[in-house]
Amino acid sequence: MGLDTSCDETAFGIIHDREVLANTVSSQIAHTKFGGVVPELAARNHMRVILPLLDSALAVAHKELTDIDLFCATYGPGLIGALLVGLSFIKSLSIVLKKPFVGVNHLEAHIYALHLEKENPEYPYLVLVVSGGHTELLLVKHPFLYETLGKTCDDACGEAFDKVAKLMHLPYPGGPYIEQYASQGRADAVPLPVPRPKGYSFSYSGLKTAVLYYTRDNPDYNRYDLAASFQMVAVEHLIQVVERAVIALNIRHLGIVGGVSVNTHLRKQFGELCSKLKVKLHIPDIGFCTDNGVMVAMAGAERFRKFGPSELTLDAISRERLDRIVGSKE
Ligand code: KG4
Ligand code: ZN
Repeated sequence: MGLDTSCDETAFGIIHDREVLANTVSSQIAHTKFGGVVPELAARNHMRVILPLLDSALAVAHKELTDIDLFCATYGPGLIGALLVGLSFIKSLSIVLKKPFVGVNHLEAHIYALHLEKENPEYPYLVLVVSGGHTELLLVKHPFLYETLGKTCDDACGEAFDKVAKLMHLPYPGGPYIEQYASQGRADAVPLPVPRPKGYSFSYSGLKTAVLYYTRDNPDYNRYDLAASFQMVAVEHLIQVVERAVIALNIRHLGIVGGVSVNTHLRKQFGELCSKLKVKLHIPDIGFCTDNGVMVAMAGAERFRKFGPSELTLDAISRERLDRIVGSKE
């Protein structure tokens, strides 16, 4: 069993080997009126839904709690209050049911969503994590051995989608709304700059500010055209950085994970890039791109096979570099 409460989704996953028995997610709509996640509200909402959601996950999987062999939860990175709810809950189940516990890094969990697919990426592979909290390019050399090639200097890609949506008075989380509006707009209508930070870094704050100035200077702007233009440039930035890394490192397998990888335009553009460069592209099924418990169960099970259980003293943490976690040593 995997549980993720790192942000505003309470999510249980139950797997048996690689077969998904349950993927039960409760997304908190309480944050919509604030235009972003309110940490304390997130923690309280996890508390409220965690027990009924556990029951639903078990019912969907046709399992009893006593059938679960391994209890896994995200310990970070994320919102501390939110993480503590899920982590303490899973630890308690592990203690009471006398079954092992494994703590999972949220980014590693997103990456393990790739291993649910029929065709797994071959090592070494490049992975782009694009979510609301992270935009990182990593080289996965072996299982659990990561090298961070670059990350965002400011906003994460999903965060930029959310902030631009907010500027356009669209609800939170904005990514899906931007995509929907973009499908009816012209991507060449609004000239926006493609960010060009150094090396394999990413940057979204300049693009976000360009959108802000555009909306201020053109109060009657067309929301469809602006959404399409922003989406094109936001994805083009990812494409440019990833293409450079693929060529320089002679990469054969590329994975894309995290909430933004749901985006159809992103999937299409990376599909084209990978055919051009003759690289095998791996993107999880839509249900495993945004936060879910299945990816936590998958990563936790693989960690358990290699490293055994985690200590019950494992604490929640708001930040952690993936190339510094247990196993990331040559
Ligand atoms: O991975 P995730 O569920 O949570 C984090 O770990 O952050 O990612 C959520 C992010 C949000 O910023 C959301 O706006 C974005 O993924 N997102 C999208 C789409 N669906 C979700 N961004 C662009 N297009 C989408 N269709
Ligand atoms: Zn996530």
